[in-house]
Amino acid sequence: MRHLINILDLTVEEIAKLIDVADDIMANPDKYSEVCRHKILATLFYEPSTRTRLSFESAMLSLGGNVLGFSEANSSSAAKGESVADTIAMVCGYADIVAMRHPKEGAPIVAAKHSSVPIINAGDGGHYHPTQTLTDLMTIRHEKGRFNGLTIGFCGDLKFGRTVHSLIAAMSRYQNVRFVLISPEELRLPGFVKYEYIEKKGLECIQSRSLEDVIGELDVLYMTRIQKERFVSEDEYFRLKDSYILTAEKMKLAKSDMCVMHPLPRVNEISVAVDDDPRACYFKQAHYGRYIRMALIMKLLGLIKDDVPYEKPDEEEQEIVYGEFTCRNSRCITTTEQELPQAFKLTDKENKIYRCVYCETRRN
Ligand code: NCD
Repeated sequence: MRHLINILDLTVEEIAKLIDVADDIMANPDKYSEVCRHKILATLFYEPSTRTRLSFESAMLSLGGNVLGFSEANSSSAAKGESVADTIAMVCGYADIVAMRHPKEGAPIVAAKHSSVPIINAGDGGHYHPTQTLTDLMTIRHEKGRFNGLTIGFCGDLKFGRTVHSLIAAMSRYQNVRFVLISPEELRLPGFVKYEYIEKKGLECIQSRSLEDVIGELDVLYMTRIQKERFVSEDEYFRLKDSYILTAEKMKLAKSDMCVMHPLPRVNEISVAVDDDPRACYFKQAHYGRYIRMALIMKLLGLIKDDVPYEKPDEEEQEIVYGEFTCRNSRCITTTEQELPQAFKLTDKENKIYRCVYCETRRN
């Protein structure tokens, strides 16, 4: 059984196939309207969501299946203190597949361990958001026709923006991709992304504090919201919240075929005047979410005909040590889940870098 916790759980061939299937669903929706008859998707959302939850539900309903779930932690037994492990052990008796969003990083890994049905990570804290990445990749393929050779700029909250982390991980597997990281000092990309996906692979990457300085180089501009809910200090949030605003003026400096993306919701990062620019792709991007999630549900339930065979990438096995270090990330699932052992993987033998198995924070 396969889960989707990290976008790298899918091979590039599998992603290409998912986009093909999503395109076919868009062109021939009737062909797919009964494929999940009598199947149930549970949406367990411990954090707010509009697009992700509704597009999952719409996806399952459009496949002829049913949905159940909750949209806030307060309306579930989490409010009574139930662990993720216990909730999942029970929910997998009620549903055939689970999409879960949780504020704690690594929560879907715990869920997958206790589940007899596929688990989909619909966002874990400031860590990853692989299904948004599938939506993003589908948008890039439609707009640019390729992934290789693109220069992609990420602008805004690169520290807490989980959509950024997953998309960088995904793009790092294509050829000659250049990353341009645009953020204030305080919101730079965390080490588990910068080091593991860019530096270790020797990929080209430039950092800038100014959007205007670099916008002219970009094929894709990925704007993001400053993630208010992850800040420890509200003052800091208010100081940084309007760091970047994409305006029609700034769009004049960009290539005529640059594609502007945003996972949404936007707060103030893209002025409404940009919406009419043909380069603005964010609403299209949100729309693709339904079709790619239909394809993903079908895949994880084994319903894609002639799916590409899965070949596990031959990576070196990483050594895992238990109980030796303690994760210092207050958003890590180990801080709340009872009896979850502290576990660290050796991600870089040469430099002796250990990262938490759940949230990938480097050990002290
Ligand atoms: C994103 C998320 O939840 O991380 N939204 C989404 O799923 N489309 C981005 C955000 O909340 O800023």
